[in-house]
Amino acid sequence: MVRHIPFNRLSLTGNEIKYIRDAVRLGQLASDGTYTGKCQEMICKLTTSPKALITHSCTAALEMAAVLCDLGPGDEVIMPSFTFVSTANAVVLRHATPIFVDIAPLTLNMDPTEVAKHVTPRTRAIFVVHYAGFPADMDALSEIAKAHDLMLVEDAAQALGATYKGRLAGSLGDMATLSFHETKNITSGEGGALTLNRENLFERAEIICEKGTDRSQFSSGQVDKYTWVDVGSSYSPGELIAAYLYAQLEAHDTILTRRQAIFDTYMQAFAPFEMQEKVTRTKVPPHSVGNGHMFYLRLPDLEARNQFIKEMGKRDINTPFHYVPLHSAPAGLRFGRTTGPLPVTDHVADTLVRLPMYFDLGSDIETVISAASDILQTL
Ligand SMILES: Cc1ncc(COP(=O)(O)O)c(C=O)c1O
Repeated sequence: MVRHIPFNRLSLTGNEIKYIRDAVRLGQLASDGTYTGKCQEMICKLTTSPKALITHSCTAALEMAAVLCDLGPGDEVIMPSFTFVSTANAVVLRHATPIFVDIAPLTLNMDPTEVAKHVTPRTRAIFVVHYAGFPADMDALSEIAKAHDLMLVEDAAQALGATYKGRLAGSLGDMATLSFHETKNITSGEGGALTLNRENLFERAEIICEKGTDRSQFSSGQVDKYTWVDVGSSYSPGELIAAYLYAQLEAHDTILTRRQAIFDTYMQAFAPFEMQEKVTRTKVPPHSVGNGHMFYLRLPDLEARNQFIKEMGKRDINTPFHYVPLHSAPAGLRFGRTTGPLPVTDHVADTLVRLPMYFDLGSDIETVISAASDILQTL
């Protein structure tokens, strides 16, 4: 019988249920309890960021980042088109305009030269995505941000544990957003975090997270009542989510090592096919060490990519593609802008396919490699 191999599978690391029981025992299920504190402390360690706030998703953290950038109508934010919708939605919700730029073919991250070309007097921020868990060229982007007084926000949804020149993702911009969605290395089903690397953002970030109130100052005894002081929303997860997340964060190093090993196995297995120019393997940008978040292959064209997915599907192996580029999506056309075609983005979106990647993949990786190799021989 053929065994179904999904793209992603949930893996418990040991303490998730124990900590959920403990959270119930502690008796506070709303946000900002014991496990929220533990998660935030751990995220600071794992990113070397001085401040972290957990959120109910990376989408929420991106919305907070957009508020902290003080975006408003007429403002422009430079970002890749090759990303998830949340990067752009956060900007559009502030009535600002995403300016979509192309990615570099050798990294699939935003090309700093393209970013520099798109800075205008209306540019307020750069939202950079560390695609596939490989940090972008942050030195070049920081230089552009500094030269034009722009906020630099890392969308590090996929990049917890990855490094750029030895520095951890999440600590490389003014602030960064993380995802703990089910498909990420560390998960709480839905979940996220905002890390802050500039002290002058800490207090306002807490207010935005607390529905626009100064409740966290009230909780720490700094004010004797809390009131509505700014815009904000309800961005914090409850303690049950935080308890589950803490167990996963504790296992971060084990998860990272296992996923990096899976990544290396895929890289080795498909090297001969790259030599024969049948595929290109996942790009490892210079100066970056990845976190084993994703392994992708690129086929020569759309037809070959779709055929590959179909053939893998026949063998009950799920290998999805992504992204539908934002610049040509209906909402992207309505809310965003480009200054011309984005050929690398379009080509990558047509040719990329992701292979199964999860903590408990185990010996199923051999089935995936064998099936993919058979199919590649025939394409
Ligand atoms: C680059 C990027 N940004 C943002 C998100 C949104 O994350 P979440 O599902 O935690 O809101 C994702 C999720 O896949 C992502 O890949």
